[in-house]
Amino acid sequence: MRVFATALTFATAALALVPGRSSFERRQSALDTYITTQTPISKAGVLANIGADGSKDQGAKSGVVIASPSKTDPDYVYCWTRDSALVFKLLVDQYTQGRDTTLNTQIRNWIASQGRFQQISNPSGTVSTGGLGEPKFNIDETAFTGAWGRPQRDGPALRATTMITYANSLGASDSYVTGTIWPLVKLDLDYVAQYWNSTGFDLWEEVSGSSFFTTAVQHRALREGAKFATALGDSTRASTYTTQAANALCFLQSYWNPTSKYASSNVNGGSVVRSGLDANSILASIHTFDPNAGCDAATFQPCSDKALANHKAVVDSFRATYALNSGKAASAAVAVGRYKEDSYYGGNPWYLATTAAAEQLYDALYTWNKQGSIAITATSLDFFKQLYSSAAVGTYASSTTQYTAITAAVKTYADGFLAIVQQYQGSGGALAEQFSRSNGSPLSAADLTWSYAASLTAFEARASKVPASWGASGLTVPATCSTGGGGGSGGTVAVTFRVTATTVFGENIYLTGNQAAIANWDPNSALLLSSSSYPTWSITVNLPASTNIQYKYIRKNNGAVTWESDPNRSFTTPASGSYTVNDSWR
Ligand code: NOJ
Ligand code: NOJ
Repeated sequence: MRVFATALTFATAALALVPGRSSFERRQSALDTYITTQTPISKAGVLANIGADGSKDQGAKSGVVIASPSKTDPDYVYCWTRDSALVFKLLVDQYTQGRDTTLNTQIRNWIASQGRFQQISNPSGTVSTGGLGEPKFNIDETAFTGAWGRPQRDGPALRATTMITYANSLGASDSYVTGTIWPLVKLDLDYVAQYWNSTGFDLWEEVSGSSFFTTAVQHRALREGAKFATALGDSTRASTYTTQAANALCFLQSYWNPTSKYASSNVNGGSVVRSGLDANSILASIHTFDPNAGCDAATFQPCSDKALANHKAVVDSFRATYALNSGKAASAAVAVGRYKEDSYYGGNPWYLATTAAAEQLYDALYTWNKQGSIAITATSLDFFKQLYSSAAVGTYASSTTQYTAITAAVKTYADGFLAIVQQYQGSGGALAEQFSRSNGSPLSAADLTWSYAASLTAFEARASKVPASWGASGLTVPATCSTGGGGGSGGTVAVTFRVTATTVFGENIYLTGNQAAIANWDPNSALLLSSSSYPTWSITVNLPASTNIQYKYIRKNNGAVTWESDPNRSFTTPASGSYTVNDSWR
């Protein structure tokens, strides 16, 4: 009976009715069938959105990844550094691990294109003045100059990680590595080493502050970058990257919320009010997974007690948020979105967040299996209890009944997230960005490249095909954190704000914005500007260096406050020196 069932694992769902198979085996088999069908669909979905030969690439240049072919509501026909680096990480892993030997040209086209993007002056700066933090570009390789949440500092780190993974497969003496990859990776890592401690927009492009995902991927990039620099004989950079990696790892610990047992995804974020529970942290865990690092909590490994407690807290935050999740047992998988307060396109579950919830657990299963045991701590106890009610603090070797029961329960739980994606995907396996919080129908950008890639990385993790190690094993967190010698919050810059504004008698112009030095958006404490050069009003303020500043002018007349129109004004302070903005009242 067993032999028969196993041989036909990929056969039809009718097999699910074969007597003698447990419900666990039946569910596994149904999901196996889905994955077998969906894998080529998702892969085709990724490749369709890459220029110049993608069937839906909208005319993108060679190696340019469009976020989605959707031209309106929303217009996603741009190349985001983050999306493209994450998508190519999948393709590089597939190529370097021999799962798809056809991808070499595509990978090199992407590298060449990213090298050109690095050199484009854009609203975040030039290649040497912060421009590497620009989040997205036009698909003809020109700058996008519209208003946007910029800079976003995860992009250069993610791009470096993808390029280093490819370079490692070629070896440090390969001429393509020394001549092409290293010069590009150097720029990105120098940027990360300088700016990791500066605020910027989060991966959702909404909050300016410090973001867990961004810090985690920056730490990773610096760490593997240091090794790469050593292999290439650049000991000066290796040492800079190592120093800043240690500082970033130290800072990463500060996001942890010990009382509520989760990583607050956004900190230093000014006036934005959110719980901090966000798929940001689950994505951080899977994109910094190191199969050789065990269940290390300092690097938030998928099976660490902190990352598991966080997984529970984040997933639970969506249980009561979406009608789609109502009626599901506390131990059942649910649809997962970005964060529960989200309102973008109605604030719905996202496919890539739901697959990430599965992927973290598959990564955890991989590591438990590899180390031959599961440890349950006071921090992770509630995660385990939701799935296995008699879980207790302790370490369970793979020979124990507890280990067998827990791993089966985690696998079932993880599979449940993928089953939700299966249930609510579009026809023909289409994966958009979101699916409706009320009825599950696909919403927002159609054929999101990142959604397809995210489904594939989850499928691969389920099949124990995991990314290469990046050096997370055996790290120690410095006892005291340093903010680093880069352009981080160590230094300040004297910024002069000048605004032309005509006023009536008794009326004055004030300034406020997202920094303590400019009153954190509080109109009552806003700074009065001098009218000595009326109609130009001005003030000079010391602001943190290399930091994105958001601000507005306000008028006050006898207690009546008038704000300038939206959007907020913004700029990034230089690393040192002084800076002037010249504005006209809006
Ligand atoms: C566009 C960004 O891509 C999205 O993440 C964000 O939610 C909206 N702008 C609203 O700010
Ligand atoms: C909005 C998402 O919030 C952001 O992370 C992504 O980069 C863009 N859409 C493009 O997919």
